[in-house]
Amino acid sequence: MSTLALRVLVTGAAGQIAYSLLYSIAKGDVFGKDQPIALLLLDITPMMPVLEGVVMEMQDCALPLLKEIIATDKEEVAFKDLDVAILVGSMPRRDGMERKDLLKANVAIFKSQGAALDKYAKKTVKVLVVGNPANTNCLIAAKSAPSIPKQNFSCLTRLDHNRARSQVAMKCGVPATQVKNVIIWGNHSSTQYPDVHHCVVNMSGSEVPCFDAVKDDAWLKGDFITTVQQRGAAVIKARKLSSAMSAAKAICDHMRELWSGTPQGEFTSMGIYSTGNSYGVPDDLVYSFPVHIKDKTWNIVDGLAINDFSRAKMEATAKELMEERDTAVEFLGV
Ligand code: NAD
Ligand code: LMR
Repeated sequence: MSTLALRVLVTGAAGQIAYSLLYSIAKGDVFGKDQPIALLLLDITPMMPVLEGVVMEMQDCALPLLKEIIATDKEEVAFKDLDVAILVGSMPRRDGMERKDLLKANVAIFKSQGAALDKYAKKTVKVLVVGNPANTNCLIAAKSAPSIPKQNFSCLTRLDHNRARSQVAMKCGVPATQVKNVIIWGNHSSTQYPDVHHCVVNMSGSEVPCFDAVKDDAWLKGDFITTVQQRGAAVIKARKLSSAMSAAKAICDHMRELWSGTPQGEFTSMGIYSTGNSYGVPDDLVYSFPVHIKDKTWNIVDGLAINDFSRAKMEATAKELMEERDTAVEFLGV
């Protein structure tokens, strides 16, 4: 714990995810109940009046840890001396779109914000990319910030991880906390692979492999996977807006574990920069892996057995990420 305020940036601060997220950060759910926070809130110029309303509400929450709020439309103000950057601001998809359809609309934002991180933020800054397509935006942000270690960048697949956990929990009739070590491999897209081969379910005090607990292999290899892959689209179809409450909760889970570590014996999923040394995943992609986190540093969980079923799905999502990367690089000329 530090008595100095932690400088935390949230972009897209006038948007719907931020509206569910800011309160949790400012009240201590993410960085600890003793950690003072300075919140930097970035949005685009036309959204400044809305952002002013968000600032008023934050003030009216009268939160003891919230020492300062800076609302701005200027990157040089927003990215100054950051400890943490949560990059949400970008366009969400609408019904009928794939997340990669947002590539050309959004990726330029992450090139610009990567450069701003490079120029203004602390070199130790931890960067979480949420805006879609999250993996490729994260890759572009990391490439645009050459003075910041690529290890400091991650993208959000914790929402998919939580979705997978919850689906298994509901099937087994246990709370989601009794399901651990699901894995999301690859892209935060409909090619992601939610893998339960290493997942265990706590059933009446003993840890049971997921396949034995669920007792429905066809579901685990079929509808379970497609439900998780398509969950974002299902929420958009129903709400006419993309997920926000569950996305904000996942951002908090991701950041809290990045800050304080994963629980003993558990791993989580996050999109991280692949160096080509794990599970045959090509290098120069932001790919979701199972990770352990300690001392604010993630390490890929090594040595998990991968069968042919899993291998094919891991390769398919890597292929999509390579295509997205090549489109983004060509479009931006990075
Ligand atoms: P929203 O439209 O409600 O809010 C987005 C905000 O970003 C708006 O206020 C907009 O003005 C702002 N913005 C746009 N360009 C900006 C820029 N250059 N700098 C700063 N702010 C900018 O959208 P939302 O529902 O909050 O979703 C935001 C993004 O998060 C979308 O891309 C969405 O697809 C994505 N998302 C990702 C996940 C995930 O799991 N990775 C989950 C949910 C949503
Ligand atoms: C989600 O997974 O809910 C978000 O990425 C929003 C979307 O476009 O699906």
